[in-house]
Amino acid sequence: MTAKLAVLISGNGSNLQAIIDACRGGFLDAEIAVVVSNRKAAYGLQRAEKAGIPTVYHPLKPYKDAGRDRREYDADLARLVEEYKPDLVVLAGWMLILSSDFLDRFPYRVVNLHPALPGQFPGAHAIQDAFEAFQRGEIKETGVMVHLVPDEAVDAGPVIASEAVPIYPSDDIETLTKRIHNVEHRLLIRALRRLIEGDE
Ligand code: GAR
Repeated sequence: MTAKLAVLISGNGSNLQAIIDACRGGFLDAEIAVVVSNRKAAYGLQRAEKAGIPTVYHPLKPYKDAGRDRREYDADLARLVEEYKPDLVVLAGWMLILSSDFLDRFPYRVVNLHPALPGQFPGAHAIQDAFEAFQRGEIKETGVMVHLVPDEAVDAGPVIASEAVPIYPSDDIETLTKRIHNVEHRLLIRALRRLIEGDE
């Protein structure tokens, strides 16, 4: 049965595009029921609109301005996502940390993509952090992982798929970022297939 996805984004949405293309191309038995962004300017919203997918803009600032708790933001986010009855919630470049007020509503159904190997470089600057560690001679490679998000631990949880990405002495942050994104677009689809179709 075709899986329903909710995809949460904060930016460019190149990984959202990979999902859209995989669904369209028949590589993934899924449909995107909604794309949610916490940023209005996120280019991914335009990608979704172009593909005819419903979008929701859910900004944090009004909550902060009103002195409302972050957990209220997460609870409202959960409510609006629930309306679309997704089988999986995919964090594809979603840059806000989600609390249990969101996660507990989708137990073991939230999937996160992160541009680092398991246990390395959590947070919003993983590629930069890895590049600097390489320059200090601490690592020779970085990677990409897709994992379940069972709790509030940041960029951690049961790994569905991961892949190492080499770093070369000739790299700058742009060439490394591009190499990582290329792997992400492939690995995210493979991981979603594993979850949805039990592939591999
Ligand atoms: C991706 O590299 C993703 O792994 C990263 O944000 C980027 C979004 O790119 N996520 C994290 O760093 C989560 N901690 P995109 O908007 O082009 O898909």
